[in-house]
Amino acid sequence: MSAGRAAVVCGLGTWLPPRVVTNDDLSQVLDTSDEWIRSRTGIGQRHVADPTMATSDLAVEAGGRAMKSAEVDSVDAVVLATTTPDRPCPATAPLVASRLGLGTVAAFDVVAVCTGFLYGLATGAGMIATGGAERVLVIGADTFSTILDPHDRSTRAIFGDGAGAVVLRAGQPDEDGALGAFDLGSDGTGSELIVIPSGGSRDPRRDPDRPAEGDADPYFRMAGKSVFRNAVERMTASARKTMTDVGWSTPPDVLVAHQANLRILHAVADRVGIARDACAVNLDRVGNTAAASIPLALADATLSGLLRPGHRLLMTAFGGGLAWGSCTMRWPAVTPG
Ligand code: ACO
Repeated sequence: MSAGRAAVVCGLGTWLPPRVVTNDDLSQVLDTSDEWIRSRTGIGQRHVADPTMATSDLAVEAGGRAMKSAEVDSVDAVVLATTTPDRPCPATAPLVASRLGLGTVAAFDVVAVCTGFLYGLATGAGMIATGGAERVLVIGADTFSTILDPHDRSTRAIFGDGAGAVVLRAGQPDEDGALGAFDLGSDGTGSELIVIPSGGSRDPRRDPDRPAEGDADPYFRMAGKSVFRNAVERMTASARKTMTDVGWSTPPDVLVAHQANLRILHAVADRVGIARDACAVNLDRVGNTAAASIPLALADATLSGLLRPGHRLLMTAFGGGLAWGSCTMRWPAVTPG
């Protein structure tokens, strides 16, 4: 690693599909209610992509806005965090790069479900730290609406579609925007807790309606209670470790945690010793947007004035894998696009 070289956030962009589905809309087609969803999760509505839209469409919008925010028209690599690629093969990032007019740059997907954006940031930061890139576009984009069981109220109530992106540039570790300590972890013994059972090499069957294929299940499944417990424990431990590694003895000014459930956010904040009103919250308006969750919350917190230049920021996320991660930084002066 080159001494004194850091990856610095210099642009931020987001995009949400225009169609909004409220809790009341869901209660028209599922056995649920606005009261249940709000009280158990904090979610009030989510954005859902039209059937003509794929993840690349959202990623291109957010990526283009991040580049405009950074005032750049080229990067050396595109890292796309997603669990809902346009197709199982190839990766979606090369298509996004070409549609953004970025030519033949390195472009690949990172799959770490709801922690994908932080894994993507770490990957981009590593490329910059080793001198392999001067600028990297890191995008988190997901269209979970395409993998949810239309009859499953426990997942349809939670997830929404969206995309967010940052531009990283080479800079100095003491600058605002320089990514500080990272903590990344995983526990594959919990891989069945958040899973799409069929459609991969373990069970290639895809169509649940073809009798010859028995009980193929191509939908996203989540063991809510176990995931809830794991999310609180893992994000708390990861956040604490990152703060220790970076040498912070007092709580950060702002916590931007994966937007899965308001009760999870508050439990993590309480355990880490961060005031609840220092937590970014946008899940009430966008739900759980998986890999897009952290950058969407960063933009929301910046626009609301919660997150300001110079603030000590802690980001933490948890999701399928199981996989989790945290990262610290001082927030830079960026205007979200
Ligand atoms: N409306 C009404 N009832 C519901 C709904 C709904 N939308 N969803 C579930 N229920 C019912 C269940 O069917 C169950 O009914 P039963 O007792 O008759 O069986 C009851 O509510 C209780 O279900 P639980 O799953 O125990 O409810 P819980 O309070 O745990 O809330 C939830 C469920 C919201 C999913 C919660 O467990 C949760 O948020 N889990 C964590 C999610 C998370 O952190 N995800 C992050 C990673 S996601 C990723 O990586 C992609």
